[in-house]
Amino acid sequence: MTPWWRHAVIYQVYVWSFADSDGDGIGDLEGVRSRLPYLRELGVDAVWLNPFYPSPQADNGYDVADYRDVDPRFGTLADADALIRDAHALGLRIVVDLVPNHTSSQHPWFRAALAAAPGDPARARYLFRDGHGAGPPNNWTSNFGGRAWTRVPDGQWYLHLFAPEQPDLDWTAPEVREEFHDILRFWLDRGVDGFRIDVAHGLAKDPAMPDVSESEAVHPHWDLDEVHDVYRGWRRIVDAYPGDRVFVGEIWVQSVERLALYLRPDELHTAFNFAFLTAPFDAAALRTAVDDSMRALDQVGAPPTWVLSNHDVVRHVTRYGGGALGLRRAGAAALLMLALPGSAYLYQGEELGLPEVEDLPDGVRRDPVFTRTAGAEPGRDGCRVPLPWSGASESLGFGPGPASWLPQPRAWEALTVARQTADPGSMLSLYRSALAHRRSIPALASGDLTWLPAPADVLAFRRGTDFLCVVNVGDTPAVVPTSASPLLSSGVPAADGTLPGATAAWYLVRD
Ligand code: GLC
Repeated sequence: MTPWWRHAVIYQVYVWSFADSDGDGIGDLEGVRSRLPYLRELGVDAVWLNPFYPSPQADNGYDVADYRDVDPRFGTLADADALIRDAHALGLRIVVDLVPNHTSSQHPWFRAALAAAPGDPARARYLFRDGHGAGPPNNWTSNFGGRAWTRVPDGQWYLHLFAPEQPDLDWTAPEVREEFHDILRFWLDRGVDGFRIDVAHGLAKDPAMPDVSESEAVHPHWDLDEVHDVYRGWRRIVDAYPGDRVFVGEIWVQSVERLALYLRPDELHTAFNFAFLTAPFDAAALRTAVDDSMRALDQVGAPPTWVLSNHDVVRHVTRYGGGALGLRRAGAAALLMLALPGSAYLYQGEELGLPEVEDLPDGVRRDPVFTRTAGAEPGRDGCRVPLPWSGASESLGFGPGPASWLPQPRAWEALTVARQTADPGSMLSLYRSALAHRRSIPALASGDLTWLPAPADVLAFRRGTDFLCVVNVGDTPAVVPTSASPLLSSGVPAADGTLPGATAAWYLVRD
């Protein structure tokens, strides 16, 4: 039996923004549980939940204060158990988010480190260093803007590659490694089917802590070879559990060859494909992303994965040009992604064709990227606006309360799940049909991919012998290499059988 994760469609639930059961304007685990039937009907195989652990929420939960509990904003551990149980009963798997690069500054370990003196073992779990004169230990910068070091009252500095509220752990400390082994077991014992690993390429740091310099080939804190040893230890743990548990790494590296190193048979199972996500809507660029990923991952026996959006990037409707054109391209990209071999990640709301919300008032933005750059960078709140479910109330069915933590555009009243369910031409209907076909057509599960000759703006490939996907990324109609009628199309094919621009179609061909 092929493990499920080699061909799964995994739906990303951003817990803050999926569904609010108690009316406080913030999503929660009960909200997710109540909407599991929606995900089942949509036709996905698994759900990845963004962090729901106790947290001061300096980075919306990516600052974890306790890895073995649930933040009261989102519910209780019993709610997590009920969610896992109900998901399994519906045939849905659950993947949880693991944040190993840093803890919250409110984690008991960091509080102990701050209370201790320089040199005390309590500081050895983090990366405390003396500065250079009055300045920080080196020139490293935070991903969220500003420097990556914060000074504590006794004069030492601690490293945070993200916000100051997210101190980096020292992964050379045996205690850190043991703690995370135990955290993995805690959630595996509760029945989770896998882990998404946050910033998986960041755990190892060059102990000499040299400045980052353009001329050095090896970066001092991203993608160091030492990180692989961590994942070999983790793999031994999950392999000892029954069922097919999976790791998916969030790994931003320079090349697909470097990515493949994380997916060797004794390391992580899969990783997000950011080369595909960042490719422009261009036939050559998309084909290169597909071919390069498949070739590199095949070398290590890992399945390719595909993703168009997540909680950190501008939604792809907007990236692809926005408006009606962005929407049409997004539909075409979805049919491309779901026809490729391997597994695919959907980010909540893409099945509704949601655009980025670009005009959020400054006062409601929460992302540290916005606050730490004094607004120079808009940050990621625009892709995190709560889902519109139904009706015309202020929160569009997100919860029983009057509003949601980020205001939804009024135009989303036309994009609710309820409205799109009733419309066979909606983005939601397209996703539902595509996922249903994906489950029922054997070639989509196991057929080899073969590219067909096509004009410059067209991608055409077969899966197996009888499935054909054609994507016209151009602006003008394209001739299709089959006379069959489409099984599914992201736009209306012309009467002469051509495929309009920014449209994809699937065909079953017997020729
Ligand atoms: C990852 C998460 C992102 C978070 C960061 C720090 O990139 O996806 O949302 O801000 O790590 O944990």
